[in-house]
Amino acid sequence: MGVEIKVEGLTKRFGRQTIWQDVSLTLPAGEISVLLGPSGTGKSVFLKTLVGLLKPEAGHIWIGDRDLTRLPEADLYETRKLFGVLFQDGALFGSMSLFDNIAFPLREHTKKKEGVIKNIVMEKMELVGLLGAEAKLPGEISGGMRKRAGLARALVLDPEIILCDEPDSGLDPVRTSYINQLFVDLNAQIGATFLIVTHDINSARTVPDHIGLLFQRHLAMFGPREMLLSSDEPVVRQFLNARTHGPIGMSEEKDLSELEAEAKMGHDPGRLPPIPPQLMPSDGRARLAQAAPGAWLRANGIQAPPGSFIDDAGVNWTQEWPRYVAAQQQPVAAPPGGGPQ
Ligand SMILES: Nc1ncnc2c1ncn2[C@@H]1O[C@H](COP(=O)(O)OP(=O)(O)OP(=O)(O)O)[C@@H](O)[C@H]1O
Ligand SMILES: [Mg+2]
Repeated sequence: MGVEIKVEGLTKRFGRQTIWQDVSLTLPAGEISVLLGPSGTGKSVFLKTLVGLLKPEAGHIWIGDRDLTRLPEADLYETRKLFGVLFQDGALFGSMSLFDNIAFPLREHTKKKEGVIKNIVMEKMELVGLLGAEAKLPGEISGGMRKRAGLARALVLDPEIILCDEPDSGLDPVRTSYINQLFVDLNAQIGATFLIVTHDINSARTVPDHIGLLFQRHLAMFGPREMLLSSDEPVVRQFLNARTHGPIGMSEEKDLSELEAEAKMGHDPGRLPPIPPQLMPSDGRARLAQAAPGAWLRANGIQAPPGSFIDDAGVNWTQEWPRYVAAQQQPVAAPPGGGPQ
């Protein structure tokens, strides 16, 4: 049930360009983590390094007692079976039908019979809403459909670790909500460890247990969701509030004089918005790393921003929590309203 990934002092360079350095974090087993960061900070490079497609210049990636950065090619091939990866561009084979694209890992990595493969492929295609599009080529479908096909392919081997690079880019808001719910449901059902790269602030605020932010060639922060969502760090505030005022500029980080000019103009990064409730599994079960809303804040003596943990229907989940937990202990009881949205 999910495995922990421990990254220690990881550094990646291309030639003389350092993409990021000294990155250390632990993706807790069976939890969902989100990685944020301005464009070009190396999020995609980070995911590719985690699966061993790119070699880091320094550091370690521990999966159990195996260090992925030191594994011989044959062992790396075996270890990759633990991963399901959705690449940013979908990375589908252009000349293969969606069915064959999605079946590819099963044919490559298992000895399953075609009948079994067909059942698995159709099950995953249904899961991502692509039934009926089996015979289509990637060039014949929309960008959002390609994303979902890539996601179906990432899931066919029932991976312990699921890495998704911008699963929601190119999706409409409704499909983004479906994909987010699918991640939370999958996580509760199969217990896989997730790392999701996204630019969608709403997803980043509601889906994960942990959030990390890459900035200026470093991991600026990585920690429990409530820690990031209540953080006073200017770069975190700017990112999560999607503001132009703050250390992140259009092309790169702003220089000191720009920041001083902004400070003189009296721009502040804005008040912290309320922390929304976490997205819950749709069948009413608990998330694997379930904690009461605000538990981390209370444990650390931090006041939640006003209006936190109230869902769109006006339910205050801090008050609702004891009833929700009690309902979970009933065999088939669903929470009122299906859980926080
Ligand atoms: N194979 C490569 N060789 C050389 N440079 C690369 C390679 N892959 C990525 N880079 C460089 O690494 C940097 C980070 O790229 P990456 O694609 O990881 O950014 P990102 O954070 O995923 O951005 P976005 O949010 O736009 O997807 C960029 O400057 C890019 O040009
Ligand atoms: Mg990217």
